[in-house]
Amino acid sequence: MSSLFTPLTLRSLTIPNRVWMSPMCMYSAASEGDQAGAPTDFHLAHLADRALGGAGLVMAEATGVRPDGRISPWDLGLWNDQQQEAFSRVTAAIRSHGSVAAVQLAHAGRKASTNRPWLGGGHLTGAEGGWETVSPSAEAFSGLSTPHELTEAEIDQLVADFAASAERALAAGFQVAEVHGAHGYLLHSFLSPAANHRTDAYGGGFENRTRFPLRVVEAVREVWPEDLPVFFRVSATDWLSEDAGDTRRGWTGDDTVLLAKELQARGVDLLDVSTGGVVHDARIPVGPDYQVPFAARARQEAGVPTSAVGLVTDPRQAEEIVASGRADAVMLGRQLLREPYWAHRAAAELGARPAWPEQYGYAV
Ligand code: FNR
Repeated sequence: MSSLFTPLTLRSLTIPNRVWMSPMCMYSAASEGDQAGAPTDFHLAHLADRALGGAGLVMAEATGVRPDGRISPWDLGLWNDQQQEAFSRVTAAIRSHGSVAAVQLAHAGRKASTNRPWLGGGHLTGAEGGWETVSPSAEAFSGLSTPHELTEAEIDQLVADFAASAERALAAGFQVAEVHGAHGYLLHSFLSPAANHRTDAYGGGFENRTRFPLRVVEAVREVWPEDLPVFFRVSATDWLSEDAGDTRRGWTGDDTVLLAKELQARGVDLLDVSTGGVVHDARIPVGPDYQVPFAARARQEAGVPTSAVGLVTDPRQAEEIVASGRADAVMLGRQLLREPYWAHRAAAELGARPAWPEQYGYAV
């Protein structure tokens, strides 16, 4: 029997299998007028297709909780009625195919206000449709603009913004809210000593650096129903102090285990384990399964359910990750761009029954 195609229940939500679509920005949201930040027909087709393709959970890309929290002017956002309405169509489509609809709530911090990656991804000035970025400290990410150091009042407002966006996500039909705490974006930049050089209650030791992300989690958990799960995506290491050749201090696997316990105590149901992104030049040993050990460690040492992501492309590889207990689920990114119906192929190869939609199932 395939572990990958065994359902997973978190709180009262049963996710039909452990092949999940990783959040991926498409830089294709509406960017003008009162529809700015809303998902488009592209998103409807793109996300619904992965649900048709058998992913047990489909996570919408990083979705800004406020306008300046988007990576680019073409990112999704969720702070007004128009966006909420447009998201309702997307969640209905995902759910109608039997998948769970999830959303990643995000603030891009000092990596916001950039161009589309296929146009170089550089900083956009105000004249080009960009905006001033924010961060724990007034230090730029390589090649981008110097951010404004957030005040404590602005941090309080951001906590409220995450909660308001989560409320809208629920109203739009999402069943899982993931807080984006990875990849050098705002929450990760508070966690990491490589980006957070504050001297107030939000900087310094572990307890202070985790304060704002944990406040966000508490606020989201407060508005998210008891019977539905909340996820947190973490960059489990900055690949700095754990890399013998690098003398800079970064966030580590040890920190992730400690954070996982704090998150779990605040009602986070699954840790989505990625790595890196806070500095541009970390040496990352990219290869199949390279992030899986961090998911395994958090699962084992903190006892938190985890998902593993990063170069998972082969059905047997995915099966082994789940069957060996290194993670509770795998998230696929680029492989699902190449092959939206990967889950059906994987099910067939692993001896499970592909969950074709009834429109296809009798025919194939
Ligand atoms: C990503 N990734 C990503 N991660 C995230 O947390 N939020 C996001 O919105 C995005 N956006 C995004 C866009 C695109 C085009 C890619 C390729 C990647 C990272 C992604 O979720 C995943 O963690 C990595 O791609 C590694 O997994 P794969 O692609 O090797 O399966």
